[in-house]
Amino acid sequence: MEKIVSLCKRRGFIYQGSEIYGGLAGTFDYGPLGVLLKKNIENLWWKRFVLDREDMYGIDASILMNQEVWKASGHVGGFSDPLVEDLETKKRYRADHLLEANNIDPRGMTLIDMDDAIKSNDLKSSDGNKLGDVRQFNMMFQTYVGATTDESSISYLRPETAQGMFVNFKNVMDSFHPKLPFGMAQIGKAFRNEIGPRDFIFRVREREQMEIEYFVDPRNQENVTKIFDELFDDQMSFLKDDLGLSPEKIHKIEIDANDRAHYSARSVDTEFDFPFGQKELLGLAYRTDYDLQAHTHASGADLSYFDEETKERFIPHCIEPTFGLGRLILATLSDAYHEDMLGGEMRSVLKLDPKVAPYICAVSPLLKNRPELQEKAREVFSMLKKQFGRVVYDDNGNVGKRYRRQDEIGTPWCIVVDFDTLGVGDAINPEWKDQVTVRDRDTGEQERIAIDQLVEYFNKKI
Ligand code: GAP
Repeated sequence: MEKIVSLCKRRGFIYQGSEIYGGLAGTFDYGPLGVLLKKNIENLWWKRFVLDREDMYGIDASILMNQEVWKASGHVGGFSDPLVEDLETKKRYRADHLLEANNIDPRGMTLIDMDDAIKSNDLKSSDGNKLGDVRQFNMMFQTYVGATTDESSISYLRPETAQGMFVNFKNVMDSFHPKLPFGMAQIGKAFRNEIGPRDFIFRVREREQMEIEYFVDPRNQENVTKIFDELFDDQMSFLKDDLGLSPEKIHKIEIDANDRAHYSARSVDTEFDFPFGQKELLGLAYRTDYDLQAHTHASGADLSYFDEETKERFIPHCIEPTFGLGRLILATLSDAYHEDMLGGEMRSVLKLDPKVAPYICAVSPLLKNRPELQEKAREVFSMLKKQFGRVVYDDNGNVGKRYRRQDEIGTPWCIVVDFDTLGVGDAINPEWKDQVTVRDRDTGEQERIAIDQLVEYFNKKI
């Protein structure tokens, strides 16, 4: 992890939030390369789950919502983590994390069970002090909307994007009249005042989610199960085929009833082998009609669905595939990070899938101080940049150093324009005129490709 965190900072992927002021725990800023990686992952997700399907409706809801939304959804009353306080320093810890750190499995434990386990094992804080009772801590960030700061102006930074879809269910129904099953999808920020943010971007306070609320007909439970399983398979295809994650690091976990979120009748988490252990990457939950029922009762709006064929009216059920974007980025980076020997030298390399790598290729002149090489290399660069966008010009240092630099940020191919390309100078190979060298990141192998074939070459590779 230390190597990945250091690479992310040094090479402009991810920085600590508010760093020059000493940081703000649980917040991170994406730098130029991090943004490219993040956008690639977002775009692949949007393409697979929205653009390539006919049954999906994209939305982009506000982060701030009427406080009644969060009362109805159960978050004001129940969105909390078990917390325990150091009686001396007043530092707070997640009770379940404390138990895990002491090799006690907290899965399925109630608040009282956790309290008993901490007391009977005489667990102490990391400063060695006695701990208070385990209690619930609400994780929502509260704020006030407008000039007054009273009860009526309370709002929250949304803790999940999901509710933005439930409250727009009627709008989408009225505008598009979709037939069941259909889904709504959204990418956006969500906030949680985590007691113990940790493991770099794994557990943060401000993060991005990519979520789908997929509405199904509850009268056919066999079909509901089939759709649930299909959505799980789609999640797997996204991880393996789009992001290129190693299949053996991905684990399917059926969640026990005691450990499910308050709204879920079935949950399947996907865990991943991060450098700090096997942890949750994605979620899939059968939210039933919990949310639409709750908003129907609280708002008075009619959130039912009318079946034209059977003339029946009912509240659809919902299956929710949810993806934490930061965790996907961390999984992608940690899976791609390798140290190996190439050409007798040790190197660190990000073996990123070309679909997600910040740059598809880097273009260089063999020598920086030769205008004729620079001119041709710039020409090749402009052509590729226009076509692919994710292309960088790199003429710093010698070619070997450029290769190492591009390997470290995951650029799959490096193109070099040399004297053979121009067809001038001593000892040139006349067959190599108007061709460039394309060097492969993973093997270090090089091949000559004609400049006018490059676009096709990369299109095929990607
Ligand atoms: N709408 C359902 C929902 O929000 P969740 O399991 O709380 O469910 C969904 O969160 C996903 O968001 C998780 O699977 C995980 O990838 C990510 N996630 C949750 N809490 C996070 C945190 N504090 N920091 C980073 N990612 C988080």
